[in-house]
Amino acid sequence: MPAPPAVRLPPPLQVAWLVKDPVGFYEAGRRRHGPVFQVRYPGLPPEVVVATAGLAEQVFATDAGASRAGEIRRAFVGPLVGERSLLCLDREPWWRHRRLINPALHGRAVAGWRDRIAAIAAAEIAGWPLGAPFALRDRMERITLEVIMRMVFGVRDAGRLRALRALLPRLVALGGSAALLRLPPRLRDRALTSPALLRAGALPTTRYVRVRDEVDAILYDEIARRRGAPDPDAADVLSHLVAARDEDGAPLTDQELRDELMTLLQAGHETTATALAWTFERLLRNPDALRRLRTELAAGEGGEYLQAVVKEALRARPVVLGAPRLLDEPVRIGGYDVPAGHYLSASIPLVLSDPAAYPEPWEFRPERFLGPGADLANRSWIPFGGGHRYCAGAQLAQLELRVVITEVLRAVDLAPARPAPERPRLKNVTLAPSASTQVVAYARTSGDHVIATGR
Ligand code: HEM
Repeated sequence: MPAPPAVRLPPPLQVAWLVKDPVGFYEAGRRRHGPVFQVRYPGLPPEVVVATAGLAEQVFATDAGASRAGEIRRAFVGPLVGERSLLCLDREPWWRHRRLINPALHGRAVAGWRDRIAAIAAAEIAGWPLGAPFALRDRMERITLEVIMRMVFGVRDAGRLRALRALLPRLVALGGSAALLRLPPRLRDRALTSPALLRAGALPTTRYVRVRDEVDAILYDEIARRRGAPDPDAADVLSHLVAARDEDGAPLTDQELRDELMTLLQAGHETTATALAWTFERLLRNPDALRRLRTELAAGEGGEYLQAVVKEALRARPVVLGAPRLLDEPVRIGGYDVPAGHYLSASIPLVLSDPAAYPEPWEFRPERFLGPGADLANRSWIPFGGGHRYCAGAQLAQLELRVVITEVLRAVDLAPARPAPERPRLKNVTLAPSASTQVVAYARTSGDHVIATGR
């Protein structure tokens, strides 16, 4: 079998195109080469990209032993989350962590957080400016950060919450900065560990390490407190993890616990805030969908349409670009041979815009997840990846989306600050709206359904 067709541009130009227009770059590959093609970035193995749900399923099937996902992520996020993180581990150590973490983030476990998430959202929304434009994504980050601090870390002390509220956004911003993510790994690792370089306070790596050490001190102290005084009724993730035991009866070590808390922060905070920002970016430009959603919420109905809106927002504007695997064995896919050592990746935006599963994919149409065609739409829906490495926080993320959307629509009317749609841009690890979803909020006009469409 032949090798998949390759995008014929020098790797530096491919990466430049990717940075400028991430979704457009992959769409151009699909248009020219079909649903399986190769891209190439400097310093990395060739990456074979697939663009349909059926092919994505074959990529995810390699999780059973033919590939590793942690190895790829370690190069990028290893220094941010730690080597003992679910994101970076593979094989048996990964399974051990995943088995211990899954129950704490299971749908039933997170469902109990609904009212507390609603209260966090309501408190944040009450502070929004009225009648003046603001970036909705930043406000959503405050909500998702609060959820991580309280439900995942389980922090209750007001002073610590205040400290973390200041530290964590700086940690995430410094950790995701181009200076840190785009440095060659060897240079970056030296800058993060060399005592001489760490004395240079102006370096972004040094600033990062200082903030990280402050956060670590709080996290290790939380871990010690939880070990010292276990609370069997506590529902937060850290309490679950401290109590969890593997098959041999062994608990996670302090460092493993710290790395997993950092992982859940890095994987769960920006992603969910970005998904919320996109949901409103789309809803505000699709008044029919917004009107139908408001009607359902006003009637206090079962939330079927709300669920469809969440699915459609994550489909039309997926937050994560791809789910790559490093192949340990050759794979035959879509009529091509891909050798061991290559990356094989399901392109999330391409699969979610495949017209065979999503007719007129550019349209924002939650109805595609209800009624005829919904089966295929649901089966092809991969915003959270798939296989064994399926997003560990997918249930929490979707609960947050449903609850926060409801609270926002209950409290305010929103209009886009500018009518033009926002474009997907790479921001840290996410595909974010180019202007962070600029909106204007207005006081809700007593239960009516007035909608400012902005177009
Ligand atoms: C809308 C929000 C989110 C999106 C779109 C998203 C998407 C993803 C994707 C695409 C992956 C990779 C899956 C693969 O490789 O097949 C992933 C992995 C992961 N996500 Fe999420 N995620 C979101 C929210 C969250 C939240 C809230 C948490 C936890 C608090 C979380 C924790 C994780 C973890 C730990 C992994 C690594 C799983 C593993 O490798 O075993 N995510 N996520």
